[in-house]
Amino acid sequence: MCGIVGYIGKRDVAPLLLEGLQRLEYRGYDSAGVVVNSPKSGALKMVKAKGRVRDLEARVPKRFAGTTGIAHTRWATHGAPSDVNSHPHLDPENKVAVVHNGIVDNAADLRAKLEAEGVVFASETDTEVITHLIARSLADSLEEKVREALKVIEGTYGIAVMHADFADRIVVARNGSPVILGIGEKEMLVASDVAALIAHTRQVVTLNDGEMATLKADDFRTYTTSGTQTNATPETVEWEAASFDMGGHDTYMHKEMSEQAEAVDRVLRGRIDDRFSTVHLGGLNLDAREARGVRRIKILGCGTSYHAGLIGAGLIEELARIPADAEPASEFRYRNPVVDPDTLYIAVSQSGETYDVLAAVQELKRKGARVLGVVNVVGSAIAREADGGTYVHAGPEVCVVSTKCFTNTVVAFALLALHLGRIRDLSVADGKRIIEGLRKLPAQIEEILAMEPEIEKLAQEYAGAQSMMFIGRVRGYPVALEASLKLKEISYIHAEAYPASELKHGPLALIEPALPTVAIVPNDDLLEKNRAALEEIKARSGRILAVAHQNQEKADHTIVVPKNEDELDPILMGIPLQLFAYHTALAMGRDIDKPRNLAKSVTVE
Ligand code: F6R
Repeated sequence: MCGIVGYIGKRDVAPLLLEGLQRLEYRGYDSAGVVVNSPKSGALKMVKAKGRVRDLEARVPKRFAGTTGIAHTRWATHGAPSDVNSHPHLDPENKVAVVHNGIVDNAADLRAKLEAEGVVFASETDTEVITHLIARSLADSLEEKVREALKVIEGTYGIAVMHADFADRIVVARNGSPVILGIGEKEMLVASDVAALIAHTRQVVTLNDGEMATLKADDFRTYTTSGTQTNATPETVEWEAASFDMGGHDTYMHKEMSEQAEAVDRVLRGRIDDRFSTVHLGGLNLDAREARGVRRIKILGCGTSYHAGLIGAGLIEELARIPADAEPASEFRYRNPVVDPDTLYIAVSQSGETYDVLAAVQELKRKGARVLGVVNVVGSAIAREADGGTYVHAGPEVCVVSTKCFTNTVVAFALLALHLGRIRDLSVADGKRIIEGLRKLPAQIEEILAMEPEIEKLAQEYAGAQSMMFIGRVRGYPVALEASLKLKEISYIHAEAYPASELKHGPLALIEPALPTVAIVPNDDLLEKNRAALEEIKARSGRILAVAHQNQEKADHTIVVPKNEDELDPILMGIPLQLFAYHTALAMGRDIDKPRNLAKSVTVE
């Protein structure tokens, strides 16, 4: 999605902003732009370009000095990707510059009104209305001008504004799109993502919705859109700047897959309680009595996080015996759901900023529900909006497609399920068994990662397929869903995921030699049923790649993964298929870290 970076201080701002934009490249974008002020006159100078940050960089003139500036990477919503539609947007007198993430819902009405007053628009964007509204305000201060503009805007925004007549400041505001201030020594930064700040400072302030801030070189203040001071105090970001680098790997995806053992180790660390065969999850804000009162659990997430939620729901039902299910948050929020006071809702999101999930959480809270968050990014909107929850501690994930965050989210659900189970009816012996299984995970993940050369060969063999089927049963079905999503996202091979039990109810008609099937075949109580499905496919001359705990006779190839406890097997069985998707995409020459049409965090509808 779009990215914002801004700086005010003493340094030459353009290189710093371009470097910041590069750090945001992973979010997906189609154009970029930068504005800086002239140190002497305060006049605004702007360069914009359709394409990548390097296209913008090539256009920035040698003499482009300035010590205050704002920059943006855009992912087109209103108006096609083009130089003119790129942000920042300036008013005709070149006094006001605005960068904006989000969508102005009433842009068409506002545009018509402004045009009727004689305003000539340069672009097709919704953002440009904000620029004109600020430029036309007669208020005395920049803060008041921005506030007046925001009063008439409906929609979501994270904005940063510069004004040639108020050259000592940048004014920013947030409503539904992240804005994070970076607090430095005699310099201040702003960005939509800590990735763009971390090389300069780890002291940050995350604005709340409805909050604004004024940044000056040696000072900042925060206040609400109605003008009340909010006195935010900076927090320290734990992530290292180096964790945003490629670390010797060819792609972020490869780096992030290879980090999964240590990431799982991190989510387990300090949480296991051997004395009571349970785990402690500090931030849940749900005491034992309340946990016992929960009658049902509903998990909401999108995409990969929804798949993690499906595995989570299975774990909660198995270990805690609480009825649980998962639903795409994007669907839930539009179907006027019945909100039940005895249901515990869990919002799951790696970024903590996905708009569909955030909107579902806000709707639930409005209806009086209790909502927990299972989130990776500390201090993100969903984490703050929830009543409590747990962080998944995967570290930053830069690649657009999620791998280590998915794995850690599922482990976090296993911890939650164990915690709830041990408050309810899970025995000490079963608690111990699950803890032992959890402790084995990092070493078993390393074992799977070491199989990469073998998986690479298999991927090369299947890379020619036009389409692929993924099947799994009960615990294996969400694994199949996630593996199929990974393959489509980065290789663009069409893939379908079906419960193995549903094959004979329709999709079996598709099976033929040209449609390979990837089958999840754990060695659990459904093994024989899964083997029967393989027989059915083989009888129709379908090619089969199995992920299993022992070699499968009916399969053309089997990836044999280490066995854990039955309930925890899904955590491991998806990992070889991440590698499979990766090497398939690589064999097909795809841009792994930036798949077409996708962006890392979807902060708009
Ligand atoms: C796919 C992927 C997406 C996200 C989805 C929700 O690899 O990463 O499907 O899971 O867009 O994002 P988060 O988890 O940040 O809420």
